[in-house]
Amino acid sequence: MKRAILTAIMALALYPFASAQMKVEVKIDTAPENGQVIPKEIYGQFAEHLGSCIYGGLWVGPESEIPNVDGYRCDVLQALKELKVPVMRWPGGCFADEYHWRDGIGPREDRPRMVNSNWGGTVEDNSFGTHEFLNLCEMIGCEPYISGNVGSGTVEELAKWVEYMTAADGPMARLRAENGRKEPWKVKFLGVGNESWGCGGNMVPEYYSHLYNRYQTYCRDYSGNRLYKVASGASDYDYNWTEVLMKNIGSRMHGVSLHYYTVKGWNGSKGSATEFNEEEYYNTLGKAVEVEPVIVKHIAIMDKYDPEKKVDLLLDEWGTWFDVEPGTNPGHLYQQNSMRDAMVAALSLNIFHKYTERLKMTNIAQIANVLQSMVLTRGDKMVLTPTYHVFRMYNVHQDALYLPSACDAEKFTDGNGRQCPYVDATASRNAEGAIHVTLTNVSLDEAATVTIDLAGNAKPRITGEILTAETIQAHNDFDRPDEVKPVEFKDFKVKDGKIVVKMPAKSIVGLYIL
Ligand code: AHR
Repeated sequence: MKRAILTAIMALALYPFASAQMKVEVKIDTAPENGQVIPKEIYGQFAEHLGSCIYGGLWVGPESEIPNVDGYRCDVLQALKELKVPVMRWPGGCFADEYHWRDGIGPREDRPRMVNSNWGGTVEDNSFGTHEFLNLCEMIGCEPYISGNVGSGTVEELAKWVEYMTAADGPMARLRAENGRKEPWKVKFLGVGNESWGCGGNMVPEYYSHLYNRYQTYCRDYSGNRLYKVASGASDYDYNWTEVLMKNIGSRMHGVSLHYYTVKGWNGSKGSATEFNEEEYYNTLGKAVEVEPVIVKHIAIMDKYDPEKKVDLLLDEWGTWFDVEPGTNPGHLYQQNSMRDAMVAALSLNIFHKYTERLKMTNIAQIANVLQSMVLTRGDKMVLTPTYHVFRMYNVHQDALYLPSACDAEKFTDGNGRQCPYVDATASRNAEGAIHVTLTNVSLDEAATVTIDLAGNAKPRITGEILTAETIQAHNDFDRPDEVKPVEFKDFKVKDGKIVVKMPAKSIVGLYIL
């Protein structure tokens, strides 16, 4: 009993109740001086040959009884089209550095099999290869981002892959045509290795940067295709990796990557995706928003070597990482996705919007059935996750002018001393002049009255939608696919030229101001 009282007092100290209802002011700069557009690639996705991300998630094969178009699941295709996926990274991840592209071309029945040693030792039949991936990108209208094998491949293998995908003429183009595709594809983004400090070869940055220079030399621009080359970047707080790459590679790379996961720790339990308490919830958000100082520090190093901002930063893996669902293969990283994940997604996107002068792409891990997914599938069933709904609500910000905002919300301090505002906001204006404001109230028990000052732009035609749920653990499962989904939101009014919004606790609100 005494312990329970003590825990309650500690919880109150960490997460104080602001008042009966929080009052928050958000001031939006509608005429920013250095008009910065939010690149659509900030909303990038990542699909790896891992668990059921590809097989069962995106691809079931043309012979499947699950409704499909040329082997791609109809339900997932439709969901991804509605999401407006701008770019998709493939085939890994760690898998990329063991992937040999020639195994994934030609008649499917003749393709060799391999053991996917990184991910549960599952046998990979290579039925989803270069053609299947690049055709999928064309079908959903997104840019492909190819992750090349540096760890166990060769310079020649990667060079020929680029030629196979993009050259209009020559031996690789002929081979491609024999395999059914005459026209080359457009492939812009090329990753030269993945996590080369770890599963991609356990290299030191000095060695990797020299290797990068060699690999990239032979990855040519064919037939009008222009490659955008990405060096395999740091994990989290490894600032030395970025420093060495900036020094040794410089403008021979168009971008350098960074990976940051919202994870409790790499050893031991990472916690359940759906069974967590209040303290774990706020700690997860604390870890998620710690990405901001991490981005800032990597950018500061890049600024030192590249003040003209020729090299971009790409956060090409991010998202929540919890324990796998009970009874599933630990190597398949299948986790559920709750309202907590929705909050992590929203807070992260708000942060990414601020740094797009340097941060040009991010890729959430991963698109289906792995880590913080957009969709979960089982047999012929599919559910959209709360994270999917956030990405759909936020896609109005793609390629829109960023409108910086200042929010005076109270902050909580998590169990690790990290601070995060209870209420947060992000805003943009699209080419048609519509302003979109997205608000997040992460508090578990406090509603908020948010007054938005749009400097006279609070026009009368405003529509809204809200994502919220009874509990923060709420999630969509195959028997309850619509437990968490956005609905119309009307609890706002225009008063004295400002928009006053009544936000319930644990909610995400999108306002569309026409
Ligand atoms: O997204 C899962 C794995 O996390 C990726 O394969 C790897 O790059 C990272 O460690």
